[in-house]
Amino acid sequence: MEFIIAEDYEGMSRAAADVVGSVMQDDPACVLGLATGSTPIGMYACLAEDAASGTVSFADVTTFNLDEYVGLPGTHDQSYRYFMDQNLFDKVDIDKARTNLPDGCAADLEAMCDAYETKIEDAGGIDIQVLGIGHNGHIGFNEPCEDFPVATHPVDLTESTIQANSRLFDDVADVPRRAVTMGIGTIMKARKVLVVANGEGKADIVSEAFTGPVVPEVPASVLQLHPDVTVVLDAAAAAKLDVA
Ligand code: F6R
Repeated sequence: MEFIIAEDYEGMSRAAADVVGSVMQDDPACVLGLATGSTPIGMYACLAEDAASGTVSFADVTTFNLDEYVGLPGTHDQSYRYFMDQNLFDKVDIDKARTNLPDGCAADLEAMCDAYETKIEDAGGIDIQVLGIGHNGHIGFNEPCEDFPVATHPVDLTESTIQANSRLFDDVADVPRRAVTMGIGTIMKARKVLVVANGEGKADIVSEAFTGPVVPEVPASVLQLHPDVTVVLDAAAAAKLDVA
């Protein structure tokens, strides 16, 4: 596990974009696994700048997002499809036909999840998976539980995640109670993983996940078992991390 500690959010965003950019430069037809949330917004802005300057190109890139709410169509301004369009896809030279998110409006969610796994495999697997981390250690919407969930699956959101995400909705009652997420197994199959976290609110979980025991009660802790993980933090999120 490699740690890159930047001074602030801007530095974290630039460093994270450089990690993704270097994968894109090595293989312009790479497969990116992407995350939503507040943390990677700056990284996506940096990648959009890099695409505009010609440092990277999304022309031949394929993307798979980690997760999507159940019941929100892509036109809903809190759907993760909408988020990705706003923060990245509409700003870069990507072919939208090659951008994939789980379909939270599918009539048969289980079948959609199986098809999503197959589509990732058919694309050759994920070259780099970007992850944020929840305050409870969730990655994607894999919440603390008794066993690591393996494949893409529907999930009931915990109260703490509903509360955390309610900041983006008019009312907490509007936050969907269910989502679809890649499983821990899907994430662990990515050839490289990039975790981004910023702010003092993430300092405890960053330390617990990356220096504590590997347990499904802290889903991100499983990343300690992955052979190629880069964690990019700002100084505040790294404050409680005790690594050499
Ligand atoms: C987003 C996702 C979530 C977030 C996590 C952190 O696609 O899967 O696991 O990465 O909730 O969210 P922020 O970045 O808003 O703190």
